Amino acid sequence: MATELTLAMIKPDAVEKNMAGAILAHIEKAGFKVRGVKRVHLTKAQAEGFYAEHSARGFFGELTTFMSRGPVFILALEADGAIAKWREVMGATDPAQAADGTIRKLFGASKGENATHGSDSTASAAREIGYYFAGYELL
Ligand code: RTP
Ligand code: MG
Repeated sequence: MATELTLAMIKPDAVEKNMAGAILAHIEKAGFKVRGVKRVHLTKAQAEGFYAEHSARGFFGELTTFMSRGPVFILALEADGAIAKWREVMGATDPAQAADGTIRKLFGASKGENATHGSDSTASAAREIGYYFAGYELL
């Protein structure tokens, strides 16, 4: 499998609960290399831009208000097959449906406030990494 990068976020619910460090430890234990990391308090407009693909969905307002209510940690993670691997390590969107041992099962509160984000394809990983990181920050 090819080495690739994916874009991960530790969402405001987990940062508020001081769980960012525990989630980072989980990420490193799972074998990812953290190639980029920043802590940012997104504006509502920045959250809307990031989640633009969901702009027609009923939960868009709730999602972007949530994502801009406090700081997030933004990570570029490297691993073999990082995109699929990170989604597996996160677990299902709804923590109640997520497998035991996954991050969303361990740290997520609800379908909306589910502790982490992960890119869902090669194209979205490229767009999302470019949204938050300049090339020189990932060297
Ligand atoms: P993400 O993009 O954050 O990694 O999550 P995902 O792929 O597992 O789920 P997606 O369908 O892309 O939804 C993006 C985020 O929107 C919130 N959501 N709320 N209230 C709801 O029914 C609902 N559905 C989705 C979640 O925060 C979800 O992660
Ligand atoms: Mg998604």
